[in-house]
Amino acid sequence: MQALNYDDLRRMAKRRLPKVAFDFIEGGVEDEVGLARNYSAFDKASLVPKYLVDVSTRDQTAQLFGRTYSHPFGIAPTGGSGFFRPGADLMLAQAARDANVPFIMSGASTASIEDLARTAPDHGWYQLYAARDKKISEDMIRRAKDAGLSTLVLTVDVPVHSNRERNRRNGYSRPLNLPLKTKLEALLHPAWIAEYVRTGGQPLLPNWAPYASNGKDAETVASLVAAQTTAPLTWDDVKRFRDLWPRKFVLKGIMHPDDARRCAALGVDGIMVSNHGARQLDRAPSPIEVLPAINEAVGDKVTLMLDSGVRRGADIMAAFCLGAKFVFVGRWTLYGVAAGGLPGAKQALDIMRNEVDLSMGQMGVPNLQTLGADYLMWDRPEDLQRNRRP
Ligand SMILES: Cc1cc2nc3c(=O)[nH]c(=O)nc-3n(C[C@H](O)[C@H](O)[C@H](O)COP(=O)(O)O)c2cc1C
Repeated sequence: MQALNYDDLRRMAKRRLPKVAFDFIEGGVEDEVGLARNYSAFDKASLVPKYLVDVSTRDQTAQLFGRTYSHPFGIAPTGGSGFFRPGADLMLAQAARDANVPFIMSGASTASIEDLARTAPDHGWYQLYAARDKKISEDMIRRAKDAGLSTLVLTVDVPVHSNRERNRRNGYSRPLNLPLKTKLEALLHPAWIAEYVRTGGQPLLPNWAPYASNGKDAETVASLVAAQTTAPLTWDDVKRFRDLWPRKFVLKGIMHPDDARRCAALGVDGIMVSNHGARQLDRAPSPIEVLPAINEAVGDKVTLMLDSGVRRGADIMAAFCLGAKFVFVGRWTLYGVAAGGLPGAKQALDIMRNEVDLSMGQMGVPNLQTLGADYLMWDRPEDLQRNRRP
């Protein structure tokens, strides 16, 4: 598979996937201004190199929650991955394990917590979508604990389902009943169709199957997930989950310094500053823009991570300069696995590794601890001051 960068993987995935599936990955919400902003925000971050430093060896290992990972990036949770490539969740888990980086299994994954623990026991984290029925969430937390996973990630930025007009236009809705034009377009992607049919069609969300009382088929379970995951989630639940989960606990989707302070007060170990890849609130800023204020608020108390809009190793450098201790990607590895299966997932990680390495060399940074605000020039620095307490 010949891919030089993120965009090559994106194009390859686009060729292989029916439009309904590709749009599901690439799309944002409503006018997709947030999607454009996630990408353009990184263009505002210029990296200022320092020369005459010996960068003949460059160390991109990164410490996170007492572990040393080989690279400063990991794989963010993406629901329904098996729709894009059967077996994708565990391919991503395996690629992460082999590269010694973390993989976060989605709360809407198409493989189970127990499968994850078998595939990547030391690298797999679990992302929880809280359920309306509290017993379901509690049981999932118990399963992740029994499976020995090190880290639980609670996604908090889906208070209501978002308005994904691309999906609606393609007729991708619940229950899945695609219109004829979408089905005809899919016929232009015979390799994907053949695999989809061979593996039994719509993939199951197996983590939820035990809680479906009126049938275990894929559509019934998917409907259960849709109904359960509009649960009202509040700080009381964060406290409850914190008490139930004895290991590292991360909140994903925090964008405001006030929320970050509450995380710190409740004993949350890590925050993933994220706007869900611009898939929830279209008018949200890009996480890289709010990171400095969050860093100022809690950077010394909580481990800060970031995702959304990362498409180059240089983006990872910018995030580190502004206070991130780790960076995650969603679409980058998802395009890789959709386009090329396990080798595609590995290639995506390899491209990232190489770009980080080259950026470090170009910037005169022999290790990631060296990075700081002095390597960064922001287009309109006053933008980074927003939301700060006076
Ligand atoms: C197809 C797709 C499915 C996603 N599913 C989930 C999910 O189940 N849970 C979650 O917390 N985030 C989910 N996300 C958001 C990602 O975890 C991550 O925040 C986002 O993709 C980062 O932006 P990027 O794609 O620009 O790297 C999903 C993203 C995509 C593209």
